Amino acid sequence: MNAHLEKCFAPAHLNGLELRNRFIKAGTFEGMTPGGIPSPALKEFHTRIASGGTAMTTIGYCAVEADGRLNENMLYMHEGIRRQLRELISSVHAQGAKVSGQMGHGGGFSKNRELQRKRPLGPSFGINMLGAANGMLFCDAMTQADIDNLVRTYRDAAAFMKSVGFDAVEIHFGHGYGLCQFMSPKTNKRKDDYGGSLTNRMRLPLRVLAAVRDAVGDTFPVIGKISLTEGVRGGLDYDDAVEISMLLDKGGIDGIITSGGTSTMNPMIMFRGGNIHKPLIRAEKNPLMKAIMYIVGPSLFKDYPYEELYFLEQAKRIREKVQCNMIYVGGASTNASFERLMAEGFDFIQLGRTLLSDPFLPKQAARTEHYESRCIHCNECVATIEHPKGIHCTRFGVSHTSTEKITNTI
Ligand SMILES: Cc1cc2nc3c(=O)[nH]c(=O)nc-3n(C[C@H](O)[C@H](O)[C@H](O)COP(=O)(O)O)c2cc1C
Repeated sequence: MNAHLEKCFAPAHLNGLELRNRFIKAGTFEGMTPGGIPSPALKEFHTRIASGGTAMTTIGYCAVEADGRLNENMLYMHEGIRRQLRELISSVHAQGAKVSGQMGHGGGFSKNRELQRKRPLGPSFGINMLGAANGMLFCDAMTQADIDNLVRTYRDAAAFMKSVGFDAVEIHFGHGYGLCQFMSPKTNKRKDDYGGSLTNRMRLPLRVLAAVRDAVGDTFPVIGKISLTEGVRGGLDYDDAVEISMLLDKGGIDGIITSGGTSTMNPMIMFRGGNIHKPLIRAEKNPLMKAIMYIVGPSLFKDYPYEELYFLEQAKRIREKVQCNMIYVGGASTNASFERLMAEGFDFIQLGRTLLSDPFLPKQAARTEHYESRCIHCNECVATIEHPKGIHCTRFGVSHTSTEKITNTI
């Protein structure tokens, strides 16, 4: 094993948190929280990832409040789930891994039937792309008081997460969710201090970062996920991402995860590979939504062929400009790629689909000279988000790897 690859498998620190290697499970909303309650399946899922050697697993999409959920079956941070979260976290810790929670808010898009507000709130009045088929056609613009309230909500959620035992938090600044809607000129049409220039559009995300930091203290890891580009005309692009990253770095973030795309306008940039249009139509239960997806699908779900390390070149531009940790995500699936990422100066690697395909990836890769993941980027896993069993690899299922023979050892 050469020095770069060795670095990948050796212990590392993230703002004082010791991690046994540099692999972090990427946030992948697991769909194992019926009614918003963490199920035993969710605990099993993360425990399995932990037993496969990953240093830190991430609970995908932990909404910071009930109305921040995209649907009623998503987690939101509140006292009622403290016991289940504690049990999950202890179970992961028992396997030697750490747990991060991805702090999310849907902003102006939601199909949550339990929404307490009349409409979801975003930076500006507009169409609620996700809820349209459920009779929730519009979103409203947040007032200054709503913005202040949202900042407090992030602070309270972060304090709760630290008190429950999470080892780190990841703020979602990307994929077209609430904070990203403020950052993007496509969705933010405000005329006040929170709209217009990038400085103004970053005001809320930076206030949120400061509030989360205030809640958890200086020695607790706070990382953030951004979109390198939204991939839509009039939206954020690669140059904006460099500026945004520099502002987050200056704002005291411990690590930046460089993803891309938006969930409702251009999701395929995020994944590459097999188009999710048809699998999502197949999985959709709402007939109206099925029809809408059928019609608008081809313009929404563009084809982006899979390439290994598809965000590397743009992520490197950010690496050059920030001091904080750089956490690479997007098509890292071989030992050659892991080695390359270390050589290019990245600090950690997030893995999504490859860990769904093989939760034992870090252990396998450490023992296999020319390791290559068996994930074929078909993206069928994406359409299992609302499956009764939760997300899984449709080729390999979920629990096959523990007995698999490890061959080709170094
Ligand atoms: C089933 C599934 C669910 C996902 N859910 C989330 C999510 O909740 N939050 C998020 O930021 N990204 C989500 N993603 C995107 C991944 O975190 C990651 O950015 C993407 O899969 C690319 O990384 P990969 O090539 O290692 O899979 C999801 C991906 C998949 C496959």
